[in-house]
Amino acid sequence: MPDAPASSTLVDTGELGPTGRPLPKFPGVVPPTPGRAHHATIISMCNQKGGVGKTTTTINLGAALAELGFKVLLVDFDPQGSLSVGLGVNPHTLETSIYNLLLSRDHTADDVIRTTSVDGLDILPSNIDLSAAEVQLVSEVAREQTLIRVLKPLRPSYDYILIDCAPSLGLLTINALTASDYVVMPLECEFFALRGIALLTDTISKVQDRLNPDLEVLGILGTMYDARTLHSREVLERVVQAFGDDVFHTVIRRTIKFPETTVAGEPITTYASASPGADAYRQLAREVLLRTTDGG
Ligand SMILES: Nc1ncnc2c1ncn2[C@@H]1O[C@H](COP(=O)(O)OP(=O)(O)OP(=O)(O)O)[C@@H](O)[C@H]1O
Ligand SMILES: [Mg+2]
Repeated sequence: MPDAPASSTLVDTGELGPTGRPLPKFPGVVPPTPGRAHHATIISMCNQKGGVGKTTTTINLGAALAELGFKVLLVDFDPQGSLSVGLGVNPHTLETSIYNLLLSRDHTADDVIRTTSVDGLDILPSNIDLSAAEVQLVSEVAREQTLIRVLKPLRPSYDYILIDCAPSLGLLTINALTASDYVVMPLECEFFALRGIALLTDTISKVQDRLNPDLEVLGILGTMYDARTLHSREVLERVVQAFGDDVFHTVIRRTIKFPETTVAGEPITTYASASPGADAYRQLAREVLLRTTDGG
């Protein structure tokens, strides 16, 4: 587990945040000690609704944690391979991908893991082969535990492992939830945001009951927020009514910079380091640290 932030006390700034609650001042982070023992905290980004910001959050939260000095592995667990693309890896030309680790005993993680342009940020890429894994896994013994079997030996090498789920609640996502300590649910701040959330929370409860009693909801993240519209504010208000303090104080605003980063193949923290979008993910990293360490 990473070192706790400098102070675990949130200071009330007296200012109302976008979620309608007083915005706390997040404590500074003590840089992790070099040479420390790692035991990765595993977090899945999950929502079966498409295009809500799962991949964007995985990449940029990961990059923000790496910027603070943590060792981070990103797992592309979507056959679309968007996370890989977003970090400049072409899924079509991969010789090995996470598929090989899930279904063949002939490959080691070292064959598949790649470094990225960001120091301390590694990736397990995927491509369309992963959709075959979903079918092939059905007949495997302990099929829901396949991903945790792959990730377990990697835990001593990282502080955080972030899993980017596909927009589905199929066997791949069940594997991700079974492997995780925490789940983050990104929600787009638009009218139908809460539709389907009951199904997602029901799936999480089933995984907690049957497969992974340690799984916890780390938080709900409002994404693509537009402060100028009453609509965005109302949606966020309803999300806070439904989920209370599970909603992260950090809200990610809608900006064209995010689609641009995909084209650039790098995180916003390096592509537009001084932008509000980069700062939002830096703040999210501090909230995540608080909620995942003893300080939280
Ligand atoms: N805050 C934002 N502002 C504007 N555009 C965004 C924002 N976050 C993500 N996007 C863009 O919206 C699209 C969908 O985002 P993303 O790929 O992160 O969602 P996803 O939930 O992973 O989608 P899928 O379900 O298809 O995997 C992408 O083109 C992305 O660049
Ligand atoms: Mg995605």
